[in-house]
Amino acid sequence: MQEAFTTVFGGTGFLGRAMVRELVEAGRPVRIAARRPNLPDWLEAGDRVEAVACDLRNEQQVAIALQGSVAVINAVSLYVERPRAGLTFKAIHVTGAGQLARLAREEGVTRLVHVSGIGTSDASPSAYVRARSAGERAVIDALPKAVILRPSVLFGPHDALLTALVRLARLPAIPLFGRGDTRLQPVHVDDVARAAVRLSDTRPLERRLFELGGPEVLRYRQIIAQVLAHLECRRPLLPVPFLAWRLAAALLAPLPSPPLTRDQVILMQQDTIVGEGVGTFDDLGIVPRTLHDSLPTCLAAG
Ligand SMILES: NC(=O)c1ccc[n+]([C@@H]2O[C@H](COP(=O)([O-])OP(=O)(O)OC[C@H]3O[C@@H](n4cnc5c(N)ncnc54)[C@H](OP(=O)(O)O)[C@@H]3O)[C@@H](O)[C@H]2O)c1
Repeated sequence: MQEAFTTVFGGTGFLGRAMVRELVEAGRPVRIAARRPNLPDWLEAGDRVEAVACDLRNEQQVAIALQGSVAVINAVSLYVERPRAGLTFKAIHVTGAGQLARLAREEGVTRLVHVSGIGTSDASPSAYVRARSAGERAVIDALPKAVILRPSVLFGPHDALLTALVRLARLPAIPLFGRGDTRLQPVHVDDVARAAVRLSDTRPLERRLFELGGPEVLRYRQIIAQVLAHLECRRPLLPVPFLAWRLAAALLAPLPSPPLTRDQVILMQQDTIVGEGVGTFDDLGIVPRTLHDSLPTCLAAG
């Protein structure tokens, strides 16, 4: 009998890797699709995981990656545009995502989970945020039964958030975005992965839009305080106006991998918390873990 794969586009990324592990633990056959595919190093004999090379922009490669899939998760990301290489927010988050949904429908895929982010809006000054909003629409237009999953900021071992904060803790003072008042709802990558895996199985769903945040809403400076307390390190927190961050992002923009982008600064000016009338962890019977309880394992990973 042919295996019925769950294919994870972006299955080698931070969130995608966690999803692959959840799927394997659930005993489901998995296909990883990415431009530079590789298999996890923790696989054991009997785990049914394969990897295929696939660029989301390449229709033929996507169609091949979808063959034999019953469920699909799109966890492909693009945070910094490289227009000369054709890597634009539109190409990945709108056209690519919509094409994947259309091809999934044609392949007879029963469930597609499209990962987006909390705060998508057509009115945002951020081209990234606007593209995420248009991308959600492109996916629903192509496959109305698709599930949209919007996480808040993710944390976990080897993440971007805590890794950056640990680096900042080496400075004599920690610069804040504005006064550090922005409210976030940090969520463990494994909790989001578990939710995506549940949403990608065949059980009937009452909701198709989910926003996933951790159990606590924390201001940016409270997150920094938790990390500093865990590191047993005292540092003054230095408010820095958003205008200065925007200037810094503009100066860094020519770098191939800028450590800070205009879109990130815009995202840090708005709260990223779960809204009203959406599906949440509660609907999935998942109790998400707190940042505080997770810090020892996350930061021990180095
Ligand atoms: N990290 C967060 O805090 C956070 C918060 C909210 C939402 N999200 C969303 O979660 C999703 C995953 O984010 P992440 O942080 O896990 O991203 P990531 O670590 O950067 O991983 C991105 C994945 O996408 C693949 N990829 C990139 N471009 C591709 C292309 N053109 N074709 C096929 N695969 C491609 C990458 O592999 P290759 O480079 O080998 O192709 C990799 O597997 C994104 O939609 C992101 O916006 C993330």
